[in-house]
Amino acid sequence: MINIPKGTKDVLPEQSYKWRFIEDSAREVARTFNLSEIRTPTFEYTELFKRGVGETTDVVNKEMYTFEDKGGRSITLKPEGTAGAARMFVENGLASRPMPLKTYYITPAFRYERPQAGRLREFHQFGIEVFGSQSYETDAEVIFAASAFLDKLGVKTKLEINSIGCPICRAEYNKALKNYFEPKLESMCETCRTRYVQNPLRMLDCKEEGCRKINADAPKITDYLCEECREHFTGVKSLLSAQGLEYTVNPRIVRGLDYYSKTVFEFVSDEIGAQGTVCGGGRYDGLVEQLGGAHVPAIGFAAGIERLMLLMENTGAKFPEEQKPRIYIAGMDKETRAEAFKIAVGLRLKGISAEIDHMNRSVKAQFKYADKLGAEYVAVIGENELKSGVINIKNMKNGEQQAVKTDELYAYLK
Ligand code: HAM
Repeated sequence: MINIPKGTKDVLPEQSYKWRFIEDSAREVARTFNLSEIRTPTFEYTELFKRGVGETTDVVNKEMYTFEDKGGRSITLKPEGTAGAARMFVENGLASRPMPLKTYYITPAFRYERPQAGRLREFHQFGIEVFGSQSYETDAEVIFAASAFLDKLGVKTKLEINSIGCPICRAEYNKALKNYFEPKLESMCETCRTRYVQNPLRMLDCKEEGCRKINADAPKITDYLCEECREHFTGVKSLLSAQGLEYTVNPRIVRGLDYYSKTVFEFVSDEIGAQGTVCGGGRYDGLVEQLGGAHVPAIGFAAGIERLMLLMENTGAKFPEEQKPRIYIAGMDKETRAEAFKIAVGLRLKGISAEIDHMNRSVKAQFKYADKLGAEYVAVIGENELKSGVINIKNMKNGEQQAVKTDELYAYLK
């Protein structure tokens, strides 16, 4: 037997309705927030993620599925959706459209991480990307969209927000970080020492115990924000508060990807173990330009579907009912089975789910099978039914029987 690759998951037939519920909820939120779906390839040129996500991030440094294709090009399976969306925006000249351009996607993503609860190598994201607006209303709207989505799923999370400033205030902050870290570098990990040179902000993202202790007293970005960034952040917070959306400001959120500026946020839960962030996002005003486009500010988020599933299951959240046949139609011999087949197909073509036997079961076994499937009604076609064109249908919930003409069956079940 060949096993499933480590860090991946099958969705079995009896689980998929849960997936559909989460995806339908995402699409419904996208509809009410007027977001249009985009689809980008599962793989891109490696350069896109190196330039977009950033070479000092764990995602690019350690976690990418990168390979050379037969034409000798370096290809990478997308570790996230934002870089591809921004590439699409630039390549198709979407900056000429009326702004903002509000988009969403549901996509698989791939990261070579150590698998654990809520952390996979192939996972799925529902993401939103809004291009072209620099106003803080857009930040608040995107955060509200995430919150509306989580509400729809019935999960409870905490919203944490931060501002990591723009290149102007970041320069000041980086200096402060370097001053703080310099005398401590000896006792920090090798990755941090490299990051000290390349991108000190990323040091705050280190998971090593020793480094984390040192990080706890590092200067806070919120003390270094320039006037514009501070006002922007105040604007976002005031809109969240005005609508009663609770949040805490966590100056330790720096996010794991390099393209962010100004607002960043995470929705976290402590019900699913170490991987508690179910949704994360923020502003990325420099990414489009960095990928060769005009200066187009943007903001978005992505929520991990597997993590949400885990959270829903761990907290007993409600899923809608699994799909079940409306009616099961049993036949007993060649002729009556053919009639059952005909009725079932007719109902299906009109949009009613119907099931029949495919395994040559006895009538008794068919009743058992119909019950297992959770069919709402069961009808048996016998010789009499064939002649009279009237069938008895049994309501499996309350046991009541009703005689219905075959050609009125659709109207009855509708
Ligand atoms: P991210 O924080 O790297 O952000 O990922 C977003 C979400 O994807 C996480 O909060 C988590 O729920 C899920 N996720 C990440 N890695 C894994 C994994 N290995 N297994 C299972 N779930 C995972 C981004 O990807 C950004 N592109 C979000 C964004 C969009 N920012 C702006 N626009």
